[in-house]
Amino acid sequence: MSFRPPKGTDDILPPDSHRWRRVLGVFDDLAERYGYDLAITPLFEATDIFERGVGEGTDVVQKEMYTFEDRGGRSITLRPEATASLVRAYLNSGSQIAMKLAYSGPMFRYERPQAGRRRQFWQVGVEYLGEESAEADVEVIGLGYRFYEEIGLAGLEVQVNSLGDAETRSSYRAVLTEYLTDIADHLTEDSRARIAGNPLRVLDSKADRDILVGAPAPVDYLSDQARSHYEAVKAGLDRLRIPYVQNSRLVRGLDYYTRTVFEYVATGMDTAQNAVGGGGRYDGLAETIGGRPTPAVGFSLGIDRILLALGLETDETTALDAFVVVAVDEQWENGFALVAELRSAGLRADLELGRRSVKAQFKAADRRRSAAALVVGDEWQRGEITAKNLGSGHEERVGRDRIVEWVAALRG
Ligand code: HAM
Repeated sequence: MSFRPPKGTDDILPPDSHRWRRVLGVFDDLAERYGYDLAITPLFEATDIFERGVGEGTDVVQKEMYTFEDRGGRSITLRPEATASLVRAYLNSGSQIAMKLAYSGPMFRYERPQAGRRRQFWQVGVEYLGEESAEADVEVIGLGYRFYEEIGLAGLEVQVNSLGDAETRSSYRAVLTEYLTDIADHLTEDSRARIAGNPLRVLDSKADRDILVGAPAPVDYLSDQARSHYEAVKAGLDRLRIPYVQNSRLVRGLDYYTRTVFEYVATGMDTAQNAVGGGGRYDGLAETIGGRPTPAVGFSLGIDRILLALGLETDETTALDAFVVVAVDEQWENGFALVAELRSAGLRADLELGRRSVKAQFKAADRRRSAAALVVGDEWQRGEITAKNLGSGHEERVGRDRIVEWVAALRG
């Protein structure tokens, strides 16, 4: 029996999981500060939702979905992304007012696995549903940017583009199809196959990049309304001092986008998969799945890829505030009492249960990345604890009645 996880999936264990917890915590905190409420939707949906929502012509729907029939004969798909599910949930709620929702969880795509491209991967994201103003796009793009800043990702580039509204998209699509048909002989087979069904996707073909330099771009075909929306988004980003580059080739891989699209690119990454997040406006998605018109904008950020981009530097943050070391056998009860007291005071505290040597307990304190070790020994009788700052190595006697305060002060 092999204990390996299925191909393209990972077990996330310590010490790696420490960084996961930190990064997911930053996102939760930030989403809350920006006023996004938590949304939890099923990990699977009726296949229709994705076929119609994400789009029949996309790679995701054509090649990458985990689709199966359940025991009741329904076609079910493990979610390859969450936006379509959130729109479904919003429509189902019957809400007449805008909703700002945040989510975090695994997504599933049957892709060729490589570094930063997994079959089960984790996304965090936000969706601003029922709001059409350009300020919503600016808020969403800015929230993502702030997230990368807070987790300390260097070399981030924000790329923006506009695909125009539904009307401009169809006139542009005709122009592009004609252009691509003319040069079809020079394109790769993959791109040729896409001309009829999904010509926009040809634009971000890496293999055909050189041939496509002269291709018409969506921004050149924007309606007045779409253009002024795009200008307002860029002006809003300027106001917030969020640096961005305009990438007229950016089309994104999902069909639901209208107007603004954007991507966060980790320029320092030396792998092919350097898009650490992406999103855009999808004003038509709700109608595509049978709902009422609902303008909306959002993003999803790929946590697996983000951690890869952060590099392998060890996480310097401590996982525990205090590790209790019991030096004398008769003191175990007091050791348990001290851990309980620290935990009740809101501090992160632990101890070894194996009744092992003091040396082994100190080793455990280091391994568990504790900020301090608190030794419960004979001095407990005198109302004192030997407290050691494991960062600086400094050691001192602290009164039992002051120990919570002492540990809390270390935390800063
Ligand atoms: P997406 O571009 O398909 O957009 O995915 C967003 C991010 O998820 C990517 O930039 C990447 O970091 C990560 N990602 C995607 N596929 C994989 C994979 N196989 N392995 C690891 N990471 C991956 C969406 O999913 C849209 N729902 C974004 C959105 C939200 N648009 C509007 N609202």
